[in-house]
Amino acid sequence: MCFEQKLLLGLLLVSNLVAAIASVNGCTSHLLKECFCGKIYKASIKKEPIFIVNCTDTGFHNTNMLEELPEETEWLIFTGNHIPVLDSNIFGEDAILNKLEIIDMTNNGIRDIKGKAFHRVMNVKRLILNHNNISISENDDSNFHHPRVFSNFYNIEELHLTNAFADNTDAQLAEDLHDIFVSSNLTKLYKLHLEQNEIKNFKDEAVFCDLPNLHDLYLGTNNIPSLNFNINCMKRLRYIDLEQNNITKFTQKDLDSFDKVAERHEDGLTLELDDNPFRCDTAVKNLYGWLTKTKVVVKNKLTLSCHSTRYGRKYIMNLQNFAEAKHARVSKALTVLLIVLTFVLISLFAAFVYLRKDAVKNKLSPLFDTITRKVHYTHIESQDV
Ligand SMILES: *[C@@H]1O[C@H](CO)[C@@H](O)[C@H](O)[C@H]1NC(C)=O
Ligand SMILES: *[C@@H]1O[C@H](CO)[C@@H](O)[C@H](O)[C@H]1NC(C)=O
Ligand SMILES: *[C@@H]1O[C@H](CO)[C@@H](O)[C@H](O)[C@H]1NC(C)=O
Ligand SMILES: *[C@@H]1O[C@H](CO)[C@@H](O)[C@H](O)[C@H]1NC(C)=O
Repeated sequence: MCFEQKLLLGLLLVSNLVAAIASVNGCTSHLLKECFCGKIYKASIKKEPIFIVNCTDTGFHNTNMLEELPEETEWLIFTGNHIPVLDSNIFGEDAILNKLEIIDMTNNGIRDIKGKAFHRVMNVKRLILNHNNISISENDDSNFHHPRVFSNFYNIEELHLTNAFADNTDAQLAEDLHDIFVSSNLTKLYKLHLEQNEIKNFKDEAVFCDLPNLHDLYLGTNNIPSLNFNINCMKRLRYIDLEQNNITKFTQKDLDSFDKVAERHEDGLTLELDDNPFRCDTAVKNLYGWLTKTKVVVKNKLTLSCHSTRYGRKYIMNLQNFAEAKHARVSKALTVLLIVLTFVLISLFAAFVYLRKDAVKNKLSPLFDTITRKVHYTHIESQDV
């Protein structure tokens, strides 16, 4: 046998093996034949092997196959398909999925999630809906408003909604988020990801107040202009990601709130503030002063920057350099002022003396006279000699 033949035989063997593994894969339904079903070992998730159903880039246009999920499924990966609408009961009327802990439905072009789409998900701890196109509210179609969309996730701990919503829904979205959190009873929610959703303002500053167990809040890469939501109501809060937003300043009240939250939690509070357009002004100096003494852990605080415009040109300055340079300049200015004042004082005194020279002379004249006389006498005496 020549080398090529051996290689061919080898490849054949390998492909047979792959086919054999596929046929004994744990997907009991032919609807799931494009997916991988079986136990895998993933240390970052669980110590024991975990039963996974993995339908990645399988090109599905509906969710019929999800009604056939094996009962032992612990982790469902269903990504890269094309499912504009998640209909009611995607797992079927009488699904028993007590072991299901993770649902990952990233990148499926989901636009609408029907009210009862998720049912029988009482033990799911992590729901991932990243990179979809969800509209949760649309005024001209009341079907789109489903504040109870997550209400069956009694035990959910992590909700991943990074870039999950359709563009240009920021106002509505921010409004609806509050309704969702109020209505969905997410009492165990620990981690909430809302990055990249163009969020600006929340209609209600208590938007996150109905999440009593929230520890970690991710709001990076949005357009939030200030601390425009209440953080004091979240008793367990310990991490807020606000990087890449549109924050120009924090008020003293905001900074006090951060301190208060930090004091409350045994882990303190960690903040991400990178890449915000802080303005180089007194507020930012105040922020810098706070940074130097607060117990709040602010990530990358040495590289934070502020923005200023001078003569029509935009400048970005390191926060520390800005705050300390200003400080140094102030003390230099004080020194100069002090010297100038001293000169002014001396001149004034000199002028005073000059103007009142007659009075001064009168006061001093007896002395002058004595001296003059003495000199005079001495003169005479010496003449006598
Ligand atoms: C799921 O399948 C995709 C494509 O086959 C693969 O890239 C990915 O690593 C799988 N995920 C897990 C957790 O096994
Ligand atoms: C998201 O929805 C908008 C309008 O509904 C559409 O124009 C856009 O192409 C969609 N994007 C994706 C990735 O499906
Ligand atoms: C919310 O969930 C808790 C347990 O997680 C439950 O005791 C309570 O009754 C629920 N409330 C509502 C209004 O569903
Ligand atoms: C960021 O804030 C400025 C005002 O400080 C505003 O003019 C601008 O439109 C905001 N940008 C976004 C994307 O919201």
